Amino acid sequence: MIPLRLGVLASGRGSNLQALIDAIEAKTLDATIAVVVSNKPESMALERAQRHGIKGIFLDPKSVAGEAQPRKAYDQKILEVLKAHDVQLVLLAGYMKIVTSVLIDAYQWHMMNIHPSLLPSFPGLNVQTQALDAGVKISGCTVHFVTEGIDEGPIILQTGVPVNEDDTVDILSARILEQEHVLYPHAVQLFAERRLCVEDKKVRILELTS
Ligand code: GAR
Repeated sequence: MIPLRLGVLASGRGSNLQALIDAIEAKTLDATIAVVVSNKPESMALERAQRHGIKGIFLDPKSVAGEAQPRKAYDQKILEVLKAHDVQLVLLAGYMKIVTSVLIDAYQWHMMNIHPSLLPSFPGLNVQTQALDAGVKISGCTVHFVTEGIDEGPIILQTGVPVNEDDTVDILSARILEQEHVLYPHAVQLFAERRLCVEDKKVRILELTS
């Protein structure tokens, strides 16, 4: 089978990108990362890509500052890069920029995000502070298809993670991150096996057919 071509958008540390690279190298994920795009030149994700011989591109958000709709113009630039690299599935991996309809429409049900909570609880920023303040006993992580609402869209997979009474934001984040690194490659592999079906805003996971 020809491996699924991934495009990863990342802004920061890139540990989820690393988990995807590791799964591909371990052959538990039938995919190839065609390109990594970052809105931050110092993103560790670009460094990780380079280390593994993957094309990494910094696209400067300031380059579209004069445009009438800068966010859309920026996404148009990203779209051009993704198309030039024949990307079939786009993965947001710690991409801290809101994506617009330009990308969402071009990759409908072909763009995923990972978020460190059990959505729809605690979307947005400062996720673990929200979870600790709410006193939840279980949090976790979610992989979902991207739609226009922030951290919304049909849920593909989730993992629950216990919250302990003495947890700090850092401790809880680390416990959840460990599960993110398992969950994201798993969700992408389901996509590669064509087992994800969106019906009535819900994702159905099809049985593996031989
Ligand atoms: C991850 O915890 C990811 O779930 C979160 O940012 C972190 C990125 O870490 N994403 C969001 O909060 C999206 N709303 P990484 O750069 O090490 O992969």
